[in-house]
Amino acid sequence: MPDAVTEAARRRTFAIISHPDAGKTTLTEKFLLYGGALTSEAGSVKGKTGRRSATSDWMEMEQKRGISITSTVLQFPYRDHVINLLDTPGHRDFSEDTYRVLAAADAAVMVLDAAKGIEPQTLKLFEVCRARNMPLLTFINKWDRPGRDALELLDEIEEQIDVKPTPVTWPVGIPGDFRGVIDRRTGDFIRFTRTAGGATEAGEELVEPDRAAVEEGEAWAVAEHEEQLLGAVEADFDEKSFLAGDSTPVFFGSALTNFGVRLLLDGVVDLAPAPGPRVDQKDEPRPLDDPFSGFVFKVQANMDPSHRDRLAFFRVCSGRFERGMQVTLDRTGRTFSTKYAQQMFGQERDTVDEAWPGDVVGLVNATDVRIGDSLWIDQPVTFPGIPSFAPTNFATVRSIDSSKFKQFRKGIAQLDEEGVVQVLRDPDLGDQAPVLAAVGPMQFEVALHRLETEFGAKVELSHTRYTIARRTDEESEAALRAMRDVDVLRKADGTRYALFVSTYWLDRVEADHPELTLDRLVAEGTVG
Ligand code: G4P
Repeated sequence: MPDAVTEAARRRTFAIISHPDAGKTTLTEKFLLYGGALTSEAGSVKGKTGRRSATSDWMEMEQKRGISITSTVLQFPYRDHVINLLDTPGHRDFSEDTYRVLAAADAAVMVLDAAKGIEPQTLKLFEVCRARNMPLLTFINKWDRPGRDALELLDEIEEQIDVKPTPVTWPVGIPGDFRGVIDRRTGDFIRFTRTAGGATEAGEELVEPDRAAVEEGEAWAVAEHEEQLLGAVEADFDEKSFLAGDSTPVFFGSALTNFGVRLLLDGVVDLAPAPGPRVDQKDEPRPLDDPFSGFVFKVQANMDPSHRDRLAFFRVCSGRFERGMQVTLDRTGRTFSTKYAQQMFGQERDTVDEAWPGDVVGLVNATDVRIGDSLWIDQPVTFPGIPSFAPTNFATVRSIDSSKFKQFRKGIAQLDEEGVVQVLRDPDLGDQAPVLAAVGPMQFEVALHRLETEFGAKVELSHTRYTIARRTDEESEAALRAMRDVDVLRKADGTRYALFVSTYWLDRVEADHPELTLDRLVAEGTVG
């Protein structure tokens, strides 16, 4: 009989984060190739039913922009393990979404383009990861084409995100002339050979150092010298600092040609932690073999036009999840049936019958379930919620067509629930002119696109002058409202946000009125 402790030990649940174009999609496909989950048609993901992936209509926008907004989950076997790979959006404007996904992951793989290193626009995504103190593995991709010096890239990682890089593999051959890698754990040379179009696993030959020196000449000598330098600065894998998120094992490779992909995937299995007991709100760990519990980290409606429904994704934290189980929604104390539990595979979905700690399950049309909710059977548990980021962009949204007001309201409520944007309302105006609050302006684009295409609500957006928000309370509301250049709006849960036009103005109000409640909202990069 399988049990939760054994099943958890087999699992690795992680997310890939990267700048758009660094190669996240390619790497994901190659992981699937090594996990045996790809069809012969290179790049197309095979669901359990064998159908080709369907695309949702708002994925048009993702394709046009070359970014991924929908987060999906891929589960595949590798060696004797079960891999759960969570997708994250590749744009800093969606770093809050990334943060929520990371709440369900035990580790992350950061993909960097060898020619670009850490790109300023994506620094935020990596900082989000850093803020959670997540174990982070790094893959330096595209070594098959000209790029930057390996040691220089390591320096950049250390300087920009403050994690110590500890290469597990070291490239032999400069970018553009990639021969293979030194496995620093054994000192051996692993020589790669290309396969046509990267459709099958890359050939790998294990070569002893003496033979490598003869056969690879100068490229080997340089790599060996650099590798010794790394030893001298103690840039060696260290489990304790890796698990604390203070150091990152680095792997070099080329996702396109499959070079180094297996070593990275082995790295995830061998180095990344298995799901462990998750701590509850009181900081007490929920043992893995306790009765089922789970934690909701994502809600999304209309992911696929052929299934116009709402999915709430949870990660199993303890015990065995079984479809049809009656689970309690901790926030309301209500019990509901999980008859419609599904597992997503890219855009594919399948009914899931059981799941174990680390697995992700989507509940169809469980309308009460919200992001941050805890689910359990038999023994109650409340896991800590996921904080919202401090928004810095605010825009008023109005329905243009009054006959579509109902759809507009429904759409706004849905986007709020999913956390696509935060929705703030003036108590006097209600849904006539809600204010959308976002971390990045691209969130507005997604919100408008979805209002129009999914809800048929044409809207107009007008940007407000506000740039910063603080949490306030009922006692302070009247005084703040009476001030110029300040507004007080409410979220659906009743939380009050005071909006200011500038930090300068906020500072003045704080200095002149110390009696007012103006709490900082969780800021990006400092969350966790
Ligand atoms: P993303 O999900 O992080 O946005 O990146 P994606 O995998 O889509 O890769 C972006 C581009 O980089 C693609 O090229 C892809 O083929 C290329 N690429 C990914 N990994 C490697 C690699 O290891 N080496 C090289 N040389 N290129 C790589 P594209 O021209 O934009 O698209 P495509 O037409 O080739 O698919």
